[in-house]
Amino acid sequence: MTLWHLAARTDAPATGSEAERIAGALLNSVVGGSSEGSATSRRRARFHTLTVQDVRPLTADAIEVTFAVPDDLAGEFDYLAGQHVALRTELDGHEVRRSYSLCRPPRRSSGAASGPSGATVSVAIKRDQGGRFSTWAQSGLHAGDRLDVMSPQGTFTSALAALDEAHVAGIAAGSGITPLMALAATVLSRSESSRFTLVYTNRRATDVMFLDDLADLKDRYPTRFAVHHVLTREQRSAPLLSGRIDEQRLRGILDALVLPATVDEWFLCGPFDLVQLCRDTLADIGVEAAHVRYELFTTGEPGQERPEAGRPVEVREDEPVRTIEFTLDGQSGSVETPISANESILNAALRVRPDVPFACAGGVCGTCRARLVDGSVTMTENYALEQDELDRGYVLTCQSHPTSERVVVDYDV
Ligand SMILES: Cc1cc2nc3c(=O)[nH]c(=O)nc-3n(C[C@H](O)[C@H](O)[C@H](O)COP(=O)(O)OP(=O)(O)OC[C@H]3O[C@@H](n4cnc5c(N)ncnc54)[C@H](O)[C@@H]3O)c2cc1C
Ligand code: FES
Repeated sequence: MTLWHLAARTDAPATGSEAERIAGALLNSVVGGSSEGSATSRRRARFHTLTVQDVRPLTADAIEVTFAVPDDLAGEFDYLAGQHVALRTELDGHEVRRSYSLCRPPRRSSGAASGPSGATVSVAIKRDQGGRFSTWAQSGLHAGDRLDVMSPQGTFTSALAALDEAHVAGIAAGSGITPLMALAATVLSRSESSRFTLVYTNRRATDVMFLDDLADLKDRYPTRFAVHHVLTREQRSAPLLSGRIDEQRLRGILDALVLPATVDEWFLCGPFDLVQLCRDTLADIGVEAAHVRYELFTTGEPGQERPEAGRPVEVREDEPVRTIEFTLDGQSGSVETPISANESILNAALRVRPDVPFACAGGVCGTCRARLVDGSVTMTENYALEQDELDRGYVLTCQSHPTSERVVVDYDV
């Protein structure tokens, strides 16, 4: 197990008082920065029903789905490049929620006319073999359909105060290209001197999502955008770009094509193993962790059943319990949880507030994030929060189990 793996799976208890101290010291360090208005400040995650405006095939097993955003919801769907939404529907009588990254640049950076009219949000969904939602979406979603879409969330966004002059690098695999499409277009459109270098790996050329859009970006920014396709099951003319990305190939690509010393910020999105390899290798060559952002779509543990929130837990009067207090949308709530149930804060909170935000329930998407204000918890898994967020006292409530008699969390900060 690597150091990063240890850091990502936080089993150590977090304490509220310590979290408060650190959070106080970093009071001005708002997640995502503050220069972009409502998209960056902590917005309440909430579902809204939107109409599908368009479904566009990207490959044989991937589609781009565009939702129309009505004028009165424009503020709710304001977003930063790199953020994601959760989609919710009912399949076979069960509620299904899945997260999808926004693939188009936000309107303000795409050069679209300002003002809310005509706003849209687009996601790209790749079919996961045997996957429930993604398989249904390929044939079940059509223009005119209505679907629940959560307001954009996530911190896989640029931490650079100014993108002028910046050289940003992205490494993506498969559907991991989705947030990087928005990031690349945003970085490139922001200034005449910013650069984006993308390394994108797929099995075959026919698996490459956004092939035409990437070519369009290259045409538009020939000197400032570089894209290097790596194919694992097909030969490319350059041997460096043919085959699985292992450490040797990665180092070769970095040295020859990306030039790490010139890069200001890194974005990694793909399977767990690839992201971990990139993080370890970048750390080894001296890239500071603070300049490396990453996002996982799954934990990468095959055959693992998807956890569902809402496990029924009965609170009996004669049983020892712990108390969970929380603030959501400015309103306080409280719920008791039997010690023997060892349930998560999210599971317990959903008993009294069905609108508590969550999507994956598996520690990956970060939608259930809240700040621990008092008490202590044990976090089982964490594939979503970065060290700076942990340091500021944030926890994933779907993975946090109270270890003190009373625990207080705040979803609004
Ligand atoms: C922040 C974030 C952003 C994301 N962005 C994107 C994006 O832009 N594009 C995209 O395509 N995806 C994205 N994802 C992934 C997406 O949310 C879904 O996880 C993905 O589409 C699979 O969902 P599904 O319902 O089709 O598959 P699931 O039904 O959840 O299944 C997932 C996998 O597990 C296997 N499986 C399921 N149940 C079992 C079982 N009982 N036993 C063994 N194996 C099982 C399935 O065969 C499948 O391979 C993102 C995820 C996150 C967290
Ligand atoms: S709901 Fe996805 S991390 Fe908790």
